[in-house]
Amino acid sequence: MQAKIIDGKAVAERIRGELKVRAAEFEKKSGRKSGLAVVLVGADPASQVYVRNKIAGCEQAGINSLAHYLDADTTQDALEALIDKLNADKNVDGILVQLPLPKHLDERRVLSRVAVGKDVDGFHAENAGALMLGEDCLAACTPSGSIELIKSTGVDMAGKNAVVIGRSNIVGKPVALLLLRENCTVTICHSKTQNIAQIAKTADILVAAIGKKEFVTGDMIKPGAIVIDVGINRHEGKLYGDVNFEEAAKLASHITPVPGGVGPMTIVMLLSNTLKAAELSLKAGR
Ligand code: GUN
Repeated sequence: MQAKIIDGKAVAERIRGELKVRAAEFEKKSGRKSGLAVVLVGADPASQVYVRNKIAGCEQAGINSLAHYLDADTTQDALEALIDKLNADKNVDGILVQLPLPKHLDERRVLSRVAVGKDVDGFHAENAGALMLGEDCLAACTPSGSIELIKSTGVDMAGKNAVVIGRSNIVGKPVALLLLRENCTVTICHSKTQNIAQIAKTADILVAAIGKKEFVTGDMIKPGAIVIDVGINRHEGKLYGDVNFEEAAKLASHITPVPGGVGPMTIVMLLSNTLKAAELSLKAGR
Protein backbone atom coordinates (compact mmCIF):
# COMPACT_ATOMS: atom_id res chain seq x y z
CA MET A 1 0.00 0.00 0.00
CA GLN A 2 1.20 3.53 -0.72
CA ALA A 3 -0.34 5.99 1.72
CA LYS A 4 -2.47 8.96 0.69
CA ILE A 5 -0.79 12.18 1.78
CA ILE A 6 -2.90 14.30 4.14
CA ASP A 7 -2.37 17.80 2.74
CA GLY A 8 -2.31 20.06 5.80
CA LYS A 9 -1.91 23.17 3.66
CA ALA A 10 -5.09 22.40 1.70
CA VAL A 11 -7.14 21.57 4.82
CA ALA A 12 -5.83 24.74 6.52
CA GLU A 13 -6.75 26.78 3.43
CA ARG A 14 -10.32 25.47 3.49
CA ILE A 15 -10.69 26.29 7.20
CA ARG A 16 -9.09 29.73 6.67
CA GLY A 17 -11.86 30.49 4.13
CA GLU A 18 -14.51 29.61 6.74
CA LEU A 19 -12.73 31.73 9.38
CA LYS A 20 -12.73 34.79 7.10
CA VAL A 21 -16.51 34.56 6.85
CA ARG A 22 -16.84 34.15 10.64
CA ALA A 23 -14.48 37.09 11.29
CA ALA A 24 -16.52 39.33 8.96
CA GLU A 25 -19.79 38.24 10.60
CA PHE A 26 -18.37 38.97 14.06
CA GLU A 27 -17.27 42.43 12.92
CA LYS A 28 -20.75 43.16 11.51
CA LYS A 29 -22.51 42.03 14.69
CA SER A 30 -20.15 43.61 17.24
CA GLY A 31 -19.02 46.75 15.39
CA ARG A 32 -15.37 45.87 15.98
CA LYS A 33 -12.76 43.45 14.71
CA SER A 34 -11.88 40.39 16.79
CA GLY A 35 -8.39 40.67 18.26
CA LEU A 36 -5.49 38.41 19.24
CA ALA A 37 -2.66 39.61 21.47
CA VAL A 38 0.63 37.76 21.05
CA VAL A 39 3.30 38.08 23.73
CA LEU A 40 6.92 37.13 23.02
CA VAL A 41 9.51 37.36 25.77
CA GLY A 42 13.09 37.37 24.49
CA ALA A 43 14.39 36.79 20.98
CA ASP A 44 14.42 33.02 20.40
CA PRO A 45 14.72 32.78 16.58
CA ALA A 46 12.22 29.89 16.17
CA SER A 47 9.68 31.69 18.40
CA GLN A 48 10.14 34.88 16.37
CA VAL A 49 9.22 32.97 13.19
CA TYR A 50 6.16 31.38 14.87
CA VAL A 51 4.97 34.78 16.17
CA ARG A 52 5.44 36.39 12.75
CA ASN A 53 3.40 33.60 11.13
CA LYS A 54 0.63 33.91 13.71
CA ILE A 55 0.38 37.66 13.09
CA ALA A 56 0.32 37.15 9.31
CA GLY A 57 -2.42 34.52 9.78
CA CYS A 58 -4.55 37.03 11.69
CA GLU A 59 -4.23 39.62 8.95
CA GLN A 60 -5.27 37.12 6.27
CA ALA A 61 -8.37 36.13 8.25
CA GLY A 62 -9.46 39.69 9.14
CA ILE A 63 -8.53 39.43 12.83
CA ASN A 64 -6.68 42.29 14.55
CA SER A 65 -3.29 41.29 15.94
CA LEU A 66 -1.43 43.10 18.68
CA ALA A 67 2.15 41.95 19.24
CA HIS A 68 3.98 42.66 22.49
CA TYR A 69 7.73 42.08 22.37
CA LEU A 70 9.35 42.02 25.82
CA ASP A 71 13.05 41.85 26.76
CA ALA A 72 14.49 38.48 27.79
CA ASP A 73 15.06 39.79 31.34
CA THR A 74 11.40 40.81 31.86
CA THR A 75 10.29 40.02 35.42
CA GLN A 76 7.41 37.74 36.40
CA ASP A 77 5.58 40.78 37.84
CA ALA A 78 5.97 42.84 34.65
CA LEU A 79 4.77 39.96 32.46
CA GLU A 80 1.77 39.31 34.71
CA ALA A 81 0.95 43.05 34.73
CA LEU A 82 0.83 43.01 30.92
CA ILE A 83 -1.40 39.91 30.95
CA ASP A 84 -3.74 41.64 33.45
CA LYS A 85 -3.94 44.64 31.12
CA LEU A 86 -4.76 42.42 28.14
CA ASN A 87 -7.32 40.49 30.22
CA ALA A 88 -9.13 43.79 30.85
CA ASP A 89 -8.89 45.06 27.25
CA LYS A 90 -12.29 44.73 25.50
CA ASN A 91 -10.61 44.71 22.07
CA VAL A 92 -8.54 41.65 22.97
CA ASP A 93 -10.41 38.35 22.54
CA GLY A 94 -7.45 36.00 22.68
CA ILE A 95 -4.07 36.09 24.43
CA LEU A 96 -1.15 33.89 23.42
CA VAL A 97 2.10 33.83 25.37
CA GLN A 98 4.68 32.22 23.11
CA LEU A 99 6.57 29.30 24.68
CA PRO A 100 9.19 28.50 25.78
CA LEU A 101 9.60 31.37 28.26
CA PRO A 102 13.05 32.31 29.61
CA LYS A 103 14.05 29.99 32.47
CA HIS A 104 13.62 32.59 35.27
CA LEU A 105 9.87 32.85 34.59
CA ASP A 106 7.26 30.50 36.10
CA GLU A 107 5.49 29.21 33.00
CA ARG A 108 2.54 27.55 34.76
CA ARG A 109 1.77 30.73 36.75
CA VAL A 110 1.97 32.85 33.59
CA LEU A 111 -0.33 30.54 31.60
CA SER A 112 -2.96 30.45 34.34
CA ARG A 113 -2.86 34.26 34.66
CA VAL A 114 -4.52 34.53 31.25
CA ALA A 115 -8.31 34.91 31.57
CA VAL A 116 -9.93 31.50 30.93
CA GLY A 117 -12.16 32.95 28.19
CA LYS A 118 -9.17 34.48 26.37
CA ASP A 119 -6.92 31.42 26.68
CA VAL A 120 -6.79 30.61 22.95
CA ASP A 121 -3.86 28.20 23.48
CA GLY A 122 -5.99 26.08 25.83
CA PHE A 123 -3.10 25.94 28.31
CA HIS A 124 -4.93 27.39 31.36
CA ALA A 125 -5.51 24.75 34.05
CA GLU A 126 -9.27 25.37 33.83
CA ASN A 127 -9.42 24.79 30.06
CA ALA A 128 -7.15 21.73 30.38
CA GLY A 129 -9.50 20.47 33.12
CA ALA A 130 -12.62 21.16 31.01
CA LEU A 131 -11.05 19.13 28.20
CA MET A 132 -10.53 16.26 30.63
CA LEU A 133 -14.19 16.47 31.67
CA GLY A 134 -15.20 16.32 27.99
CA GLU A 135 -16.76 19.82 28.12
CA ASP A 136 -16.80 22.30 25.26
CA CYS A 137 -13.76 24.55 25.83
CA LEU A 138 -10.83 26.29 24.19
CA ALA A 139 -8.66 23.27 23.33
CA ALA A 140 -4.95 23.34 22.48
CA CYS A 141 -4.29 24.21 18.84
CA THR A 142 -1.86 21.55 17.56
CA PRO A 143 -3.95 18.72 19.05
CA SER A 144 -7.19 20.20 17.58
CA GLY A 145 -5.46 20.57 14.20
CA SER A 146 -4.36 16.93 14.33
CA ILE A 147 -7.98 15.84 14.91
CA GLU A 148 -9.16 17.97 11.95
CA LEU A 149 -6.59 16.21 9.74
CA ILE A 150 -7.81 12.78 10.85
CA LYS A 151 -11.41 13.89 10.14
CA SER A 152 -10.34 15.07 6.67
CA THR A 153 -9.61 11.43 5.71
CA GLY A 154 -13.32 10.61 6.12
CA VAL A 155 -12.44 7.59 8.28
CA ASP A 156 -14.80 7.07 11.25
CA MET A 157 -12.73 7.36 14.44
CA ALA A 158 -15.21 5.67 16.82
CA GLY A 159 -13.88 2.44 18.27
CA LYS A 160 -10.46 2.75 16.59
CA ASN A 161 -7.27 1.99 18.50
CA ALA A 162 -5.38 5.28 18.79
CA VAL A 163 -1.81 5.35 20.08
CA VAL A 164 -0.18 8.65 21.04
CA ILE A 165 3.59 8.66 21.46
CA GLY A 166 4.52 11.55 23.76
CA ARG A 167 2.89 12.90 26.92
CA SER A 168 3.58 16.64 26.84
CA ASN A 169 1.02 19.10 28.19
CA ILE A 170 1.06 20.92 24.82
CA VAL A 171 0.42 17.95 22.51
CA GLY A 172 0.48 14.39 23.89
CA LYS A 173 -2.01 14.69 26.75
CA PRO A 174 -4.56 16.98 25.02
CA VAL A 175 -4.51 15.03 21.73
CA ALA A 176 -5.15 11.82 23.71
CA LEU A 177 -8.19 13.45 25.38
CA LEU A 178 -9.51 14.73 22.04
CA LEU A 179 -9.16 11.23 20.53
CA LEU A 180 -11.08 9.87 23.54
CA ARG A 181 -13.78 12.47 22.88
CA GLU A 182 -14.02 11.01 19.36
CA ASN A 183 -14.61 7.59 20.96
CA CYS A 184 -11.21 6.09 20.16
CA THR A 185 -9.59 3.55 22.49
CA VAL A 186 -6.51 5.52 23.49
CA THR A 187 -3.05 4.45 24.64
CA ILE A 188 -0.35 6.96 25.58
CA CYS A 189 3.29 5.86 25.22
CA HIS A 190 6.23 7.80 26.66
CA SER A 191 9.92 7.56 27.43
CA LYS A 192 9.42 4.92 30.14
CA THR A 193 7.03 2.75 28.10
CA GLN A 194 8.21 -0.77 27.41
CA ASN A 195 7.64 -2.25 23.93
CA ILE A 196 6.68 1.04 22.23
CA ALA A 197 7.08 -0.59 18.81
CA GLN A 198 4.71 -3.41 19.71
CA ILE A 199 2.08 -0.99 21.07
CA ALA A 200 2.43 1.41 18.13
CA LYS A 201 1.79 -1.49 15.77
CA THR A 202 -1.68 -1.97 17.26
CA ALA A 203 -2.65 1.59 16.26
CA ASP A 204 -5.33 2.28 13.67
CA ILE A 205 -4.48 5.94 14.36
CA LEU A 206 -0.90 6.75 15.37
CA VAL A 207 0.03 10.23 16.60
CA ALA A 208 3.77 10.85 16.94
CA ALA A 209 4.66 13.75 19.25
CA ILE A 210 8.01 12.77 20.69
CA GLY A 211 10.40 15.38 19.35
CA LYS A 212 12.93 12.84 18.01
CA LYS A 213 13.82 12.77 14.34
CA GLU A 214 12.33 9.74 12.55
CA PHE A 215 11.72 7.85 15.81
CA VAL A 216 8.80 5.91 14.29
CA THR A 217 10.03 3.36 11.77
CA GLY A 218 8.17 1.10 9.33
CA ASP A 219 8.14 -1.89 11.69
CA MET A 220 6.01 0.18 14.13
CA ILE A 221 3.19 0.81 11.64
CA LYS A 222 0.06 -1.32 11.32
CA PRO A 223 -0.84 -1.76 7.64
CA GLY A 224 -3.66 0.69 6.83
CA ALA A 225 -3.03 2.98 9.82
CA ILE A 226 -3.57 6.75 9.78
CA VAL A 227 -0.25 8.36 10.78
CA ILE A 228 -0.16 11.92 12.15
CA ASP A 229 3.37 13.29 12.55
CA VAL A 230 3.52 16.26 14.93
CA GLY A 231 7.34 16.38 15.03
CA ILE A 232 9.39 19.33 13.79
CA ASN A 233 13.07 18.43 14.11
CA ARG A 234 15.71 20.60 12.48
CA HIS A 235 18.79 18.71 11.29
CA GLU A 236 21.52 20.21 9.07
CA GLY A 237 19.14 22.87 7.75
CA LYS A 238 16.34 20.44 6.89
CA LEU A 239 13.05 19.67 8.69
CA TYR A 240 12.25 16.13 9.75
CA GLY A 241 9.22 14.67 11.49
CA ASP A 242 9.08 12.11 14.29
CA VAL A 243 8.19 9.49 11.65
CA ASN A 244 10.37 7.95 8.98
CA PHE A 245 8.08 9.07 6.16
CA GLU A 246 9.44 6.79 3.41
CA GLU A 247 9.04 3.65 5.50
CA ALA A 248 5.67 4.58 7.05
CA ALA A 249 4.14 5.69 3.73
CA LYS A 250 4.60 2.16 2.36
CA LEU A 251 2.26 0.78 5.04
CA ALA A 252 -0.12 3.53 6.20
CA SER A 253 -3.43 4.34 4.51
CA HIS A 254 -2.98 8.09 5.20
CA ILE A 255 0.03 10.05 6.45
CA THR A 256 0.92 13.69 7.14
CA PRO A 257 4.16 15.04 5.64
CA VAL A 258 6.66 17.29 7.45
CA PRO A 259 6.55 20.11 6.56
CA GLY A 260 3.03 20.67 5.19
CA GLY A 261 1.03 18.40 7.52
CA VAL A 262 0.20 19.37 11.10
CA GLY A 263 2.23 22.62 11.00
CA PRO A 264 -0.19 24.70 8.87
CA MET A 265 -3.10 23.56 11.05
CA THR A 266 -1.80 25.00 14.33
CA ILE A 267 -2.25 28.61 13.21
CA VAL A 268 -5.75 28.13 11.78
CA MET A 269 -6.87 26.45 15.00
CA LEU A 270 -5.44 29.41 16.94
CA LEU A 271 -7.49 31.78 14.75
CA SER A 272 -10.53 29.54 15.15
CA ASN A 273 -10.13 29.67 18.96
CA THR A 274 -9.77 33.47 18.80
CA LEU A 275 -13.07 33.75 16.92
CA LYS A 276 -14.73 31.28 19.29
CA ALA A 277 -13.57 33.40 22.25
CA ALA A 278 -14.84 36.58 20.53
CA GLU A 279 -18.22 35.04 19.66
CA LEU A 280 -18.68 33.74 23.22
CA SER A 281 -17.85 37.11 24.77
CA LEU A 282 -20.31 38.85 22.42
CA LYS A 283 -23.01 36.33 23.33
CA ALA A 284 -22.30 36.92 27.03
CA GLY A 285 -22.63 40.68 26.44
CA ARG A 286 -19.06 41.42 27.56
N1 GUN B 1 5.57 27.01 21.40
C1 GUN B 1 5.51 25.87 20.65
N2 GUN B 1 4.24 25.53 20.39
C2 GUN B 1 3.47 26.46 20.97
C3 GUN B 1 2.05 26.65 21.04
O1 GUN B 1 1.24 25.89 20.53
N3 GUN B 1 1.65 27.76 21.73
C4 GUN B 1 2.52 28.60 22.34
N4 GUN B 1 2.03 29.63 23.01
N5 GUN B 1 3.83 28.46 22.29
C5 GUN B 1 4.29 27.39 21.61
